[in-house]
Amino acid sequence: MAPRIVLIGPMGSGKSTVGEALAEKLAAPFRDTDQMIVDQSGREISDIFIESGEDEFRALEKIILRTALLEDETFLSLGGGACLSLDAQSALRASGAFIVYLKISLSQVSSRVGFNQGRPLLMGNPRAQWQNLMNERAPIYEGLAHYICEVDNKSVDEISSEIEIAYELRGKGESNG
Ligand code: S3P
Repeated sequence: MAPRIVLIGPMGSGKSTVGEALAEKLAAPFRDTDQMIVDQSGREISDIFIESGEDEFRALEKIILRTALLEDETFLSLGGGACLSLDAQSALRASGAFIVYLKISLSQVSSRVGFNQGRPLLMGNPRAQWQNLMNERAPIYEGLAHYICEVDNKSVDEISSEIEIAYELRGKGESNG
């Protein structure tokens, strides 16, 4: 068994907000890999990056992802980089969870991300950094997803209802990923 739905996508696409809304709607537990890392390490994500480096963060993230994928019937939101390694991709595919990519444009995301200390990968020039990451990552997000949800100009309610319907229709030839 595994989580019911796993949300993937870039920083600022709303994975945590949407995951929480979905979990509440469907009365199931919500998990978030970033939050699990903070809870388990007792450190903020930005402190881990700055004090210990990205490699240590990725090692923690890998362990947390494995744990999170063993929890049944949850709604799981992944940090933007958590699904990228080949290991993570295989584990996600093997889990059987319904994988949803929240796809957002740079123009919509730019008002949301980067201007705080919480996202170390976007320090410097947040818009350019975000776009550079997306150029590399978009093909992986698309390749993994059973369903791609375009979130531009949609409310959290609209997005969660769309995902709920896609989940109900899964396996019936309706997925678009
Ligand atoms: C990261 C995304 C962040 C967090 C870390 C690295 C990434 O999570 O895991 O800063 O590599 O894209 P969110 O996508 O929830 O912001």
